[in-house]
Amino acid sequence: MAALEVEAAGSVGSVPWPHSQLVETYISGAQCTVLEEGEEIQGFIIFMRVLDEASLLNIAVAPTLQHMGFGRMLLEAGLTEQYQAGATQCFLEVRVSNDKAKKLYQSFGFSVIGERKDYYPLPNGKREHALVMSRELPFSKQAVV
Ligand SMILES: CC(C)(COP(=O)(O)OP(=O)(O)OC[C@H]1O[C@@H](n2cnc3c(N)ncnc32)[C@H](O)[C@@H]1OP(=O)(O)O)[C@@H](O)C(=O)NCCC(=O)NCCS
Repeated sequence: MAALEVEAAGSVGSVPWPHSQLVETYISGAQCTVLEEGEEIQGFIIFMRVLDEASLLNIAVAPTLQHMGFGRMLLEAGLTEQYQAGATQCFLEVRVSNDKAKKLYQSFGFSVIGERKDYYPLPNGKREHALVMSRELPFSKQAVV
């Protein structure tokens, strides 16, 4: 699987990132960690860091491998890497209806700090609000509830 396929397969009920967005994000200096099996990409996490602020732009795990701990593994590795590179705060946006992702972020100590109205496009042409979540770094397992 390529990163694009992982993203498309995981984006049930939402509009996946197009190829151009993945490429533009990559060439604009984002930090990407991938989960690979052989030569197949099975998951990825993408951050963008500006000075001491990290933004989690996207995370996805192939549907057949979800709920096996890989999302947690990617998030832990990514947050640790961001802190080591100088980030002291991490922000992210998540669809209001994305319960799996919200649970994952909450279990890592992220809390809701705001909402962006009509942020995400939906396949039916409508839009969905995003929750803005944040947590301070360093990430430590002790901080996980
Ligand atoms: C969100 C996502 C990356 C989580 O990856 P994952 O590998 O399934 O996550 P993990 O197995 O590490 O689980 C971590 C936590 O996520 C939550 N979670 C994962 N799968 C879940 C499910 N099917 N139902 C409910 N909660 C779930 C749980 O809180 C879980 O912790 P637990 O195992 O202690 O209950 C994955 O579901 C995905 O790729 N979704 C599609 C893309 C997406 O929505 N990305 C988020 C963009 S903001």
